[in-house]
Amino acid sequence: MKFAFQLLLHFGLLVFVSCYGGYGYDPLQHVLNIQRFRRSVLNRAGNEDRSAEYSTSHVYMGLQDGLKNVDKISSLPGQPAGPDFDQYSGYVTVDPNHGRALFYYFAESPVNSSTNPLVLWLNGGPGCSSFGYGAMMELGPFRVNADNATLSRNKYAWNNVANVLFLESPAGVGFSYSNTSSDYITGDVQTAKDSYTFLVNWLERFPEYKTRDFYIMGESYAGHYVPQLAQLILQNNKITNQTVINLKGIALGNAYVDEETEMTGMFDYLWTHAIISDEIHEGIISNCNFSEGATITDACHDYQNQTIAAISNIFSYDIYSPLCSPLSNSTPSISGFDPCTANYTLAYLNTRVVQQSLHAKPLQWNSCNHPIGIHWKDRPFTVLPVIQDLMANGIRVWIYSGDTDRSVPVTTSRYSINKLQTSVKIPWYPWMYQGEVGGYVVGYENLTFVTVRGAGHFVPSYQPGRALAVFTSFLEGKLPTNH
Ligand SMILES: *[C@@H]1O[C@H](CO)[C@@H](O)[C@H](O)[C@H]1NC(C)=O
Ligand SMILES: *[C@@H]1O[C@H](CO)[C@@H](O)[C@H](O)[C@H]1NC(C)=O
Ligand SMILES: *[C@@H]1O[C@H](CO)[C@@H](O)[C@H](O)[C@H]1NC(C)=O
Ligand SMILES: *[C@@H]1O[C@H](CO)[C@@H](O)[C@H](O)[C@H]1NC(C)=O
Ligand SMILES: *[C@@H]1O[C@H](CO)[C@@H](O)[C@H](O)[C@H]1NC(C)=O
Ligand SMILES: *[C@@H]1O[C@H](CO)[C@@H](O)[C@H](O)[C@H]1NC(C)=O
Ligand SMILES: *[C@@H]1O[C@H](CO)[C@@H](O)[C@H](O)[C@H]1NC(C)=O
Ligand SMILES: *[C@@H]1O[C@H](CO)[C@@H](O)[C@H](O)[C@H]1NC(C)=O
Repeated sequence: MKFAFQLLLHFGLLVFVSCYGGYGYDPLQHVLNIQRFRRSVLNRAGNEDRSAEYSTSHVYMGLQDGLKNVDKISSLPGQPAGPDFDQYSGYVTVDPNHGRALFYYFAESPVNSSTNPLVLWLNGGPGCSSFGYGAMMELGPFRVNADNATLSRNKYAWNNVANVLFLESPAGVGFSYSNTSSDYITGDVQTAKDSYTFLVNWLERFPEYKTRDFYIMGESYAGHYVPQLAQLILQNNKITNQTVINLKGIALGNAYVDEETEMTGMFDYLWTHAIISDEIHEGIISNCNFSEGATITDACHDYQNQTIAAISNIFSYDIYSPLCSPLSNSTPSISGFDPCTANYTLAYLNTRVVQQSLHAKPLQWNSCNHPIGIHWKDRPFTVLPVIQDLMANGIRVWIYSGDTDRSVPVTTSRYSINKLQTSVKIPWYPWMYQGEVGGYVVGYENLTFVTVRGAGHFVPSYQPGRALAVFTSFLEGKLPTNH
């Protein structure tokens, strides 16, 4: 358990803490690896010009004829009667030589699917599944019930207002795979490239979406994936003569975008939420320098260790939630979200008939692939320059945050926005949902910041109605209403 928190403190990984139980590797070695890793990536710029690497000739285009029909899901086992929308899932090959293919799940809108926008949703980790988390636990049309076998309809599903595509990325995550095992040592650059190749091929399979308004959204470590993919799309749109992707905007939820603000924001959040003592907080402030290139001293490590001990066993992703425990047998949390949902999803997705209905390879599905996260080979210290580039290029950028998450807490988002140095256009105000404050919002130049009150890391799990309201506002390009 100690190791789990150590890693979480360093990376803000999107992994359920309980998943680490009995994982059995050497904590010290990992910390050292992390430190070495930090050094090796320090000099990589976040906004390097990659256009040369990505000329059109390097993007693999496979034949997609007829595959859309093959991918149509007739019905998921245990699905409630009368599905009122079309769903698809399957693989898109991104590298035929290595045998690398990415798995997607696509839920169209019940109404207006031919005019509603296309939204790509990405979870983080690195190494966690957008299908298992995003679709089955957060914003997708179904949730797995406590019997592990039947599904219930999520009435706040985001496909009510958009056609939502969930991508398991990179290869090795969920049902996505490669026939070349060295592909499982990967990082930010390869993930962006593969996601791009996936998209242009998927658009050949679903050509009616080629010119549709397109948005990319994600949470946690997808704070890296989303802006990096968006930037790559803008670059490739200029040079390709195949598919011009009609990218309109991005939105990032409880997103890990900057290493320094992740650390400073997390310790401040722990202190202001009565989780660590004044002494530890002051110890962190006076002994830790989290800026790029700074050394983490022993004294700083010591205060980090004291932090881990002080936090004890609370759910990092929603600090007031109960844990999934065999004793409490699914105590509902304040939000009503069943803390054992991840367990039901794991059991459901590992059922053979479910895998068949999804057109997935028969394999052991996991919500996160830990080795992929541990061996992650490149990530810039910050992606704020990438976000700035998107802002300056007319891409709509929203940053939203559930305010009861301690892993990538709301403070880190606010500190990151301060670093962007964009000016306030519409000052902070409460936005309303069904007669109550849904959260708070600030309109900056080229950027919108929204909080979701009472939501943890997985915002749509804990506050589904408020999350759908924010999502709808984002697509409309209007700030959430104050009445
Ligand atoms: C991976 O290998 C299997 C077995 O040879 C093959 O059926 C499959 O098509 C390969 N996957 C890809 C993406 O090429
Ligand atoms: C479908 O689109 C029409 C026309 O834009 C709109 O009036 C209607 O509210 C939409 N329905 C839903 C459920 O989004
Ligand atoms: C659901 O799956 C879990 C894990 O496989 C198992 O422990 C539990 O008993 C199952 N619940 C039911 C109701 O079958
Ligand atoms: C455009 O596509 C054609 C045919 O696919 C190809 O022959 C040509 O080289 C491409 N041009 C550029 C500039 O990529
Ligand atoms: C923190 O480290 C950075 C990079 O080494 C350095 O420039 C900065 O002065 C340090 N800050 C403090 C308060 O020591
Ligand atoms: C912090 O904890 C780790 C793991 O338990 C341990 O290896 C390390 O020596 C500790 N560091 C300090 C400075 O106490
Ligand atoms: C839920 O899953 C976690 C992680 O796999 C496991 O440690 C825990 O025992 C499970 N809880 C129940 C009640 O099945
Ligand atoms: C906002 O976007 C405009 C162009 O669309 C750009 O000129 C300006 O520098 C951007 N400002 C910020 C803070 O991103």
